Amino acid sequence: MENDFIAALIEENAAYRNIVERTSVRRFNDQPVPAELQQALLHAAMSAPTGVNKQPWEFILVDDKNLLSKLAEALPYAKMTAQAPMAIVVCGNPDRFLDGEDATLWEQDLSAASENILLAANALGLGAVWTCLYPHHDRMEAVRRILGIEERIIPFNLIPVGHPLTNHAPMDKWHPERVHYNGY
Ligand SMILES: Cc1cc2nc3c(=O)[nH]c(=O)nc-3n(C[C@H](O)[C@H](O)[C@H](O)COP(=O)(O)O)c2cc1C
Repeated sequence: MENDFIAALIEENAAYRNIVERTSVRRFNDQPVPAELQQALLHAAMSAPTGVNKQPWEFILVDDKNLLSKLAEALPYAKMTAQAPMAIVVCGNPDRFLDGEDATLWEQDLSAASENILLAANALGLGAVWTCLYPHHDRMEAVRRILGIEERIIPFNLIPVGHPLTNHAPMDKWHPERVHYNGY
């Protein structure tokens, strides 16, 4: 497992601990997420780096119970959305995509924003899980239909957020054998 230095960091450094102790949360209690915390999640998302600072994201915050249920019904791997008090759909707007060899960088940009949402949720005592929409056309179409998203906008993922009902220990993902120094 981790060495003594890392163990001490986890103990003493809240920002580092927040990164390594985040887990996906799929069960939520009934408490709503206050508006200030919703805004804080979005602010964290928009703080992520993006290629050429294009900021090609848009976000749909869903806290309407009926819509959350419809999303859960339509999405086989996002059933927990029905119990969540809110979800954020991270979307890509092609107006701000790069072209040529950089044409797919937006996927990395939206991923960075998504991880920031997960980390901010954990830091705020909330729980969240990344559920996959893109590149599954059926899932993207279902979300477009339910939320009235125009065809050119790409619903990238859906992140249900709420107050965790259960806490899981983080998985051990430390694989030193996969690290190469000064060459493969
Ligand atoms: C690209 C991506 C797609 C994912 N899709 C789903 C999903 O559709 N449904 C789900 O419940 N979890 C999904 N997850 C969450 C992963 O299952 C989870 O991150 C992984 O099992 C590791 O667990 P942890 O987040 O607790 O460390 C996804 C995560 C990523 C990064």
